[in-house]
Amino acid sequence: MSAPPFTILVVPGDGIGREVIPAAVAVLQATDLPLQFVEADAGWDCFQRCGEALPSETLDAARAADAVLFGAVASPSYPVAGYRSPIVRLRRELDLYANIRPVVDDPPPGDPRARRVDLAVVRENTEGLYAGRERVEHGGATAIAERVITRRASERIARVAFELARARRAARRADDAPPGRVTIVHKANVLRETCGLFRTVVLDVAQAYPDVQADEMLVDTCALHLATRPERFDVIVTTNLFGDILSDVACAWGGGLGLAPSANLGERHALFEPVHGAAPDIAGKGVANPLAAIGCAALLLDHLARRVSPDTASAIRAWSERIRRAVRHVRIVGPHTPDLGGDAATSETTAAVIAHMLTL
Ligand code: NAI
Ligand code: MG
Repeated sequence: MSAPPFTILVVPGDGIGREVIPAAVAVLQATDLPLQFVEADAGWDCFQRCGEALPSETLDAARAADAVLFGAVASPSYPVAGYRSPIVRLRRELDLYANIRPVVDDPPPGDPRARRVDLAVVRENTEGLYAGRERVEHGGATAIAERVITRRASERIARVAFELARARRAARRADDAPPGRVTIVHKANVLRETCGLFRTVVLDVAQAYPDVQADEMLVDTCALHLATRPERFDVIVTTNLFGDILSDVACAWGGGLGLAPSANLGERHALFEPVHGAAPDIAGKGVANPLAAIGCAALLLDHLARRVSPDTASAIRAWSERIRRAVRHVRIVGPHTPDLGGDAATSETTAAVIAHMLTL
């Protein structure tokens, strides 16, 4: 991490990535923080234009940046020679092994439908069924995917989850706040070797965190509980594909995909992206909800704050807190984009976030 000004690599990607990422950049530019933006290309359009989904200049720029702000890419659901999902590749190349997806549903007082949800899905980001080990046999009649789980990756993601539970407990401050809890989610009753190893390693790591409760749940049961009793969860730690799916389920509580941000963290690099994809059904209409991407801007600032002196850190954190409060305000009072039942454009919602943020 360099000293400020910080270099932020902006990769809008495809579809609504090109609409919501500029919104997040506009919010960051409205702060007085020393941020410097560099833009680079990746994705399906980029592949069609230049034959590469992730050009080497983009990868180099990502390595050189203090943080990456990534939109979404429109990967086709069929094999295309030479194409690999650039986000999956970026996560692996930058060793962004922890994908953290917070979901907060903090309803206004008196809202009878709402319940308080404040959880985070911690998803292992480099292996599992996303290891890219797929092949066909019998002339294409059988397709096989290998699921890779290692002790090393399970151990480090477990540590991220327990540290996060500890930090969340500390941030809740109140003496009577419940202890942190990590729920280990797996399917070890069927996938005895792969989920079995993940489960054993995470339970071992739990021994080093006596102040954090650890429990475990099968992935299908977890999906049900996320849909019916989300307030039961604090931190969920799980493997790559399970984490991808469960975080989409969980974000139904936080206002849907249009509001769900995520952080991809490694030892040296960090990338922030909305949980949603390129949304081809609404792309180009100017109505995508920018709040997920703007939430990423807040996570990005939290990350920068962890790497500087305490004085600089508190100034940065003050801005990330303002962004979060402004997002919450706009989520409650609007203007809302169509996914939240309104008819506002991306630009109106963004302007409202910035205007409110500057009053705080
Ligand atoms: P999606 O997340 O793009 O869209 C799912 C639904 O949610 C759509 O109806 C869309 O309009 C809506 N939606 C998503 N974000 C929204 C926003 N900010 N505001 C308002 N509505 C929003 O997922 P889908 O349709 O399954 O995938 C579309 C493409 O995106 C595919 O090519 C897929 O590969 C790609 N994708 C890329 C991801 C990434 O780059 N990390 C993640 C997920 C999908
Ligand atoms: Mg997903």
